[in-house]
Amino acid sequence: MKTMQRNTSSPADAWHAEHAYFAALLRLLQREVDVFHTGESPNYELMLDIISYLRDFSDRFHHPREDVAFERLARRCPDLELVLARLQQEHRVIAHAGETLRGLLTAILDGSLVKRAEVEIAAAMYLVYYGNHIAREEEDVVGRAAGTLSAEDWEAVRAAVPQQRDPLFGETPDERYRVLRRRSAAAG
Ligand SMILES: [Fe+2]
Ligand SMILES: [Fe+2]
Repeated sequence: MKTMQRNTSSPADAWHAEHAYFAALLRLLQREVDVFHTGESPNYELMLDIISYLRDFSDRFHHPREDVAFERLARRCPDLELVLARLQQEHRVIAHAGETLRGLLTAILDGSLVKRAEVEIAAAMYLVYYGNHIAREEEDVVGRAAGTLSAEDWEAVRAAVPQQRDPLFGETPDERYRVLRRRSAAAG
């Protein structure tokens, strides 16, 4: 990804662009997980910002729209039915794993005693799971949806959740996410 400019020329382009943003965040999270191997302390604040964005934006807006797109696509492409059912199930797993990780990071930042290994494992599992999820969607779903879904389908996808300003990659990032915005642009 060369720039962090949002390409919204079509719903599938916008979908793909969000995946590129999320993948950049996962690369940043991976770098922090790598720090565990050096024996140093990772940047827990940055990790919490990443996971908070993915919980508050991706899980609440990106995934519900996908769920509608998957249902529509499964009706038209029966060969994708199983893949789409799995991806939909993974949305629930990702939300659960993300909440577990957010809880651990919040506890650490609040000064509670949390085993490093516990955070390392939770973060590593989240990375593998989410990374594979996005790769599968990009390989098997986004292109097929672009060529298959009708304007009415895309309208249903858009209407699945209220329109929401993107607090990190939108035109004006929230104060909280300014550092993360800069870092993710560099990681893109
Ligand atoms: Fe998804
Ligand atoms: Fe996705």
